[in-house]
Amino acid sequence: NIVPLLRKTLIDILNDSRYADQSIELQTNVDKLMLNIDTVLIRRAVTNLILNALVHNDADVKIIVQLEQKEHTHITIKDNGKGIEEAELEKVFDRYYRGTNTAGTHAGSGLGMAIAKDIIQKHGGDITIQSIIGEGTTIDIQLPT
Ligand SMILES: Nc1ncnc2c1ncn2[C@@H]1O[C@H](COP(=O)(O)OP(=O)(O)OP(=O)(O)O)[C@@H](O)[C@H]1O
Ligand SMILES: [Mg+2]
Repeated sequence: NIVPLLRKTLIDILNDSRYADQSIELQTNVDKLMLNIDTVLIRRAVTNLILNALVHNDADVKIIVQLEQKEHTHITIKDNGKGIEEAELEKVFDRYYRGTNTAGTHAGSGLGMAIAKDIIQKHGGDITIQSIIGEGTTIDIQLPT
C-alpha cells in the first residue's frame, strides 16, 4: 500500500531534527493503493527527491507530495523554491551532475536523481521534471498500476 509508505517517508524526514520545522504536505485522492513495488527502493527514490527540495532551497520552501490515481499512478513532488535553469534540466538525471544552484552548504555527490530515475525505470515507470526559475520544481513519478 503506497499511501502509508508515503506517509512514513514524510514522517521520517520530518523526524530528522534538520528538517523538523519545514513544510511538507501529503495530498492523496485515495486511502489505499496496492502496487507491486520494492518498498525500500521506492522510499529511497521519493526520499532523494524530497531531500533535494529541502537542501537546494531556502528553509521556507513549501513541498507538496501528491499521490494521484489516474490511468497510471502518479507521485509528484512539488516545491515553490528557486527552480532550475532550463538548459540544466536535461542533465539533472545524469550521474554526478550537480546544478549551478546548489548552496555551498550541501556537499552532495550528484547521484540522488540518477538513483531515483534508475529505481523508477526498473519498476517499469517513468520520471520527468518541470522547473521554472523563481517559481519552483515539480518531479512527476509515473508507476504502472
Ligand atoms: N527541488 C530542486 N530544486 C532546485 N534544484 C534542484 C532540485 N532537485 C534537484 N536540483 C538540482 O539538480 C541537481 C542534481 O540533483 P541530485 O540529487 O542528483 O544531486 P545533489 O542533490 O546535488 O547531490 P546528492 O543527491 O548526491 O546529495 C542538484 O545539484 C540541484 O542543482
Ligand atoms: Mg540530491
